[in-house]
Amino acid sequence: MTNRKILVVGNWKMNLDTSQASLLVHRLEERIKTHRSVEVVLAPSLLTLQPLSLQIDRRKFRLSAQDAYFKDEGPYTGEVSFSMIRELVHYCIIGHSARRVYFGESLETVRDKVQAAVRNGITPILCIGETKEERNLGETKQVIHDQLTTALSNLTSEDIQNVVIAYEPIWAISTFDGEVAKPDDMAKAIKYIRFQIKELYGEQTSKDVRVLYGGSVDDHDARAYLALEGCDGVLVGAASLNYHQFPAIVDSAYQLLNERPKND
Ligand code: PGA
Repeated sequence: MTNRKILVVGNWKMNLDTSQASLLVHRLEERIKTHRSVEVVLAPSLLTLQPLSLQIDRRKFRLSAQDAYFKDEGPYTGEVSFSMIRELVHYCIIGHSARRVYFGESLETVRDKVQAAVRNGITPILCIGETKEERNLGETKQVIHDQLTTALSNLTSEDIQNVVIAYEPIWAISTFDGEVAKPDDMAKAIKYIRFQIKELYGEQTSKDVRVLYGGSVDDHDARAYLALEGCDGVLVGAASLNYHQFPAIVDSAYQLLNERPKND
């Protein structure tokens, strides 16, 4: 864990209509305390961003979109652009494995979306990670390298300092195989991500960039991932829909920070 704010992001995926989302926010608000050192981000469906932006206590939560389209406007039927959501969100998840696997998003599309987010003042939460097959073939580093270099290729190193990278091995995500990832292995991947950023954009950028872990994180194992060297937080899917588990994950982050020596 680094000495910065911890980021706890809840990705609600395609769940909860407007009234269900509002109820969950209400329940989370009752259970989550405001901690200056822990940033809690909710990523509901696009439809509910507007009402939730009016409902949330902004000292407690920030909003994220789960995706948006890289063109700012035009004949792109069915899409919503980053420029349309820029007043509503701080963050946008980009390149989530569901987008890559179900909707065939290419490395280049992810790159264009990252660039569009930055252009519109939205911080990208860039998801990267290998499939089970790639892992078994020993290709994890190569996949991380390719996904990172393409996604960030149109940004300056100053832009990159603000990007959040979420390492989410696809085999560990509950929607896919949901295998529990060993924290030590995840620490190696996080280290490699920072190494790659350092090689490409220099030491300072590699220190500034925030790296999260995601994949079946729940209230029991969150602490083990949050405590990893170089890990700035977690991206939580299924457990973020549970109003007992998600606040417990936020509490784990807070406890870890409290246990840190004061002069750290
Ligand atoms: P999960 O999802 O926590 O349900 O595995 C994580 C994600 O898809 O971002």
